[in-house]
Amino acid sequence: MARSDSIQLDSFELSMGEIKDADLDALHALSLSVGWPHRAEDWQIVRELGRGIVAHDAIGRVLGSAMLFDFAPDFSIFGMVITSPRLQMLGTGRWMMEHIIAQSGSRALGLNATRSAKRLYESFGFRAEKIVYQCNGEAVQPPAVPLPSGASLRLIEETDLTEIATLDLAAYGADRRPVFARLLTVSKGVALIRDGKIAAFSLCRRFGRGHVIGPVVASRDEDAIAVTRPHVADHAGSFLRLDTRQQNGAFPQFLMQSGLPIYDTVTSMSLRRNWLRGDGNPPTDGLPLTYGLVSQALG
Ligand SMILES: CC(C)(COP(=O)(O)OP(=O)(O)OC[C@H]1O[C@@H](n2cnc3c(N)ncnc32)[C@H](O)[C@@H]1OP(=O)(O)O)[C@@H](O)C(=O)NCCC(=O)NCCS
Repeated sequence: MARSDSIQLDSFELSMGEIKDADLDALHALSLSVGWPHRAEDWQIVRELGRGIVAHDAIGRVLGSAMLFDFAPDFSIFGMVITSPRLQMLGTGRWMMEHIIAQSGSRALGLNATRSAKRLYESFGFRAEKIVYQCNGEAVQPPAVPLPSGASLRLIEETDLTEIATLDLAAYGADRRPVFARLLTVSKGVALIRDGKIAAFSLCRRFGRGHVIGPVVASRDEDAIAVTRPHVADHAGSFLRLDTRQQNGAFPQFLMQSGLPIYDTVTSMSLRRNWLRGDGNPPTDGLPLTYGLVSQALG
């Protein structure tokens, strides 16, 4: 009897578990399967900062994930949404979304959507707000720029936690102190001091294939450039990334000149209330703005 070279198997059953109980290497394998650059250590950090679910099969293989980061009593960020490629387009993403939206209660939600996920989120009522430009490449020595007048730079120390979290709160709209407490353990930070206070800052840490600069918080382009430049200089010749919503002005120009062209884009979306300030142009209101994201998952 002729034997066929292929066999049609029944699709298997998926169960839901909590992400805190999932094996870190299995999560790492899941994100690698969709081409994401996260290292196991990067997963470790997001897992410490949020809650979420995994979809697993009968023998415990992790085939899906989705997370919530509760940054305020009434606001969460939604991220790390992945379905294993062999299970995509079968309803897993929608099933995980239904669970995670139910878990979010009445909180407002923000997220950064990849192209393949945007329609899924729209079907749950998320509205597109802004484009995020993922800028990365092999960094080059950045152009020399004089420091803004009256400003000086210094490294950030752990004792700066309250001051940088407060500046970030003004830019981001939610208190991310726990995020900063964790990031400071793995980041190098640069602060711009004006009149004895931190007026702008940036952090830089290992991530994925190299380093990522983020967040960058400043109230004008020249300050944002001043705190970003030292990290670019540190990593000239190696892979560097910065995600920004700034489309025009000196800051995105500076990124281009630093060897970090736009590699991809995602869309910032929100549900239940608007999330973001700024219109992609250099700010004119003197208020702090998020020039660089912590990451796409954490906003
Ligand atoms: C986005 C993702 C999670 C969707 O998961 P999934 O299990 O395939 O989702 P579902 O099967 O429930 O499909 C949900 C909807 O999205 C649509 N969709 C899924 N993949 C798509 C793709 N690549 N392009 C366009 N639409 C897509 C489906 O058609 C479906 O729409 P419908 O319900 O109107 O028919 C999955 O494609 C994925 O992991 N992608 C890589 C990682 C990623 O981009 N994550 C999103 C981070 S924001």
